[in-house]
Amino acid sequence: MAILFLNGPNLNLLGQREPDIYGRTTLAEIEASVRARAAELGVQIDFRQSNVEGELVGWIQQARGQFKAIVLNAAAYTHTSIALRDAIAASGVPTIEIHLSNVHAREEFRHKSLLAPVCCGQITGFGQKSYILGLDAAVYVNETK
Ligand code: DQA
Repeated sequence: MAILFLNGPNLNLLGQREPDIYGRTTLAEIEASVRARAAELGVQIDFRQSNVEGELVGWIQQARGQFKAIVLNAAAYTHTSIALRDAIAASGVPTIEIHLSNVHAREEFRHKSLLAPVCCGQITGFGQKSYILGLDAAVYVNETK
């Protein structure tokens, strides 16, 4: 089974970006921990980041037939992007929305996710562990299909 991890804008700055909110772990370190868990589970991982909305849309479109699930931290696009929402709906690939921080405990504009209604579920607030929980959820939704 292959699972696609997609990371949106500014997540390339993890480790130095607002560490009180997002922690000091870099995206490369998170990727390494996801790969370790994936090896335990026997699943393949593709792990990508982009600051460009259209690039994320393209990757979601291409995921159909290639990946069994998408684990998506769309970052700020979570709250703004109808294009990402439509891409998820069009792809038909089960998608898990994840966040490092608890978006519901933060500013009001982060409480609304345009993506959540077309995702299987949302994992928010567990720091880097949200990625591991997202991986487990991606495997789970395939087992229960
Ligand atoms: C985030 C939460 C978003 O609101 C924010 O724009 C991010 C990161 C998180 O992982 O906590 O960039 O997705």
